[in-house]
Amino acid sequence: MQSTSNQKFVLPENLAIRIENLSISYKINVESKKTLKNALMRASRGERIRTRTVEAVKNLTLDIAHGSVVGIVGANGAGKSTLMRSIAGILPPTTGRIAVNGRISTLLALGVGFNQALSGRDNIILGGLAAGMSRAEIDSQTDAIAQFADLPEGFIDMPVRTYSNGMYSRVAFSVAVNMTPDILLLDEALSAGDAAFKEKSFNRMRQLCAEARTILIVSHALSSVNELCDQAIWLHKGQMLASGKPEDITEQYLKFLNVGKLPSSYEDL
Ligand SMILES: Nc1ncnc2c1ncn2[C@@H]1O[C@H](COP(=O)(O)OP(=O)(O)OP(=O)(O)O)[C@@H](O)[C@H]1O
Ligand SMILES: [Mg+2]
Repeated sequence: MQSTSNQKFVLPENLAIRIENLSISYKINVESKKTLKNALMRASRGERIRTRTVEAVKNLTLDIAHGSVVGIVGANGAGKSTLMRSIAGILPPTTGRIAVNGRISTLLALGVGFNQALSGRDNIILGGLAAGMSRAEIDSQTDAIAQFADLPEGFIDMPVRTYSNGMYSRVAFSVAVNMTPDILLLDEALSAGDAAFKEKSFNRMRQLCAEARTILIVSHALSSVNELCDQAIWLHKGQMLASGKPEDITEQYLKFLNVGKLPSSYEDL
C-alpha cells in the first residue's frame, strides 16, 4: 500500500482509495516579474514577496471501492486535475490524507513524462517501468501497445518529437490502458486521436470498466461518464457538491450549468 501523506493508515481490504479531509492549496507568487530591480525595490520598502493562496481542493472525504468506475465532473478550475494528481502521488496533500491500495497507471496530461528524444517504443518501456512493471512484463506487452497505437508505418521507432499531437496521444493512451493497472486515472483522456482511434479507445475503456479494475475518469464528455461509470461525483470550487448515480449527477451538473438537455451538451462541457 502506498500512502501519499506522512501519516500512514490502514485501508480496509475492499477499498482501493481512501481520501480523508483532503485539502490542497497552491501558493502563487503574485509578483509579475522576478527581476533584480523589483527584488531590490521590495527590499528597500521592507516588503516580502506577495503571494496568493488558491484552495484547489477543500476538505474532501471519499472512499472508492475496488472495482468501481468513478466519473468526476465539474467546471473548469473545480479542482479535478488537482485531485487526480494528488491521488497519483504527484502532489502532496496540504492537509488530510490519501491512501491507495494497488498499482496506479495514470494518464493525467497526455504523454506527460514522455522523453521527446526517445522513440515511441522506448517511451512505452519507460512508461512500463514508471508504472512498476517488471522488464519481462513490459517486453511481453510492448508489441501489443505499439499495435494498439497503430501509428503510420515506422513511426513507433522514431523520436516522439516528430509525432503529431494525435499520434502522441495515441501512444500515451495505449500505454495507460494496456499496463494492466489496478487503478487507472484518466484525466480528459477519452477523446484522444481521430474518430477511428476514439472508437477503439472507447471500446478498450468499456472492456477495462467491465473488468474488476478501479478507474477514475475526469471528463467533460458527460455521455461517456454516464455510459462508463457506475458512480459519479461533482466537484465545485474544490468541494464535492454531490455524489451518486452518474445519470443523476450529470443531470444536476447540466442544470447548474444551465445548458439544457441538448444532445451536444452531453458531449463536451
Ligand atoms: N500549478 C498550479 N499553480 C497554481 N494554481 C493552480 C495550479 N494548478 C491548478 N491551479 C489552480 O487550482 C484550481 C483548480 O485547478 P484544476 O486544474 O485542478 O481544475 P480542473 O477542475 O482540472 O479544471 P479543468 O476542467 O479546466 O481542467 C484553479 O483555480 C487553478 O487556477
Ligand atoms: Mg483539469
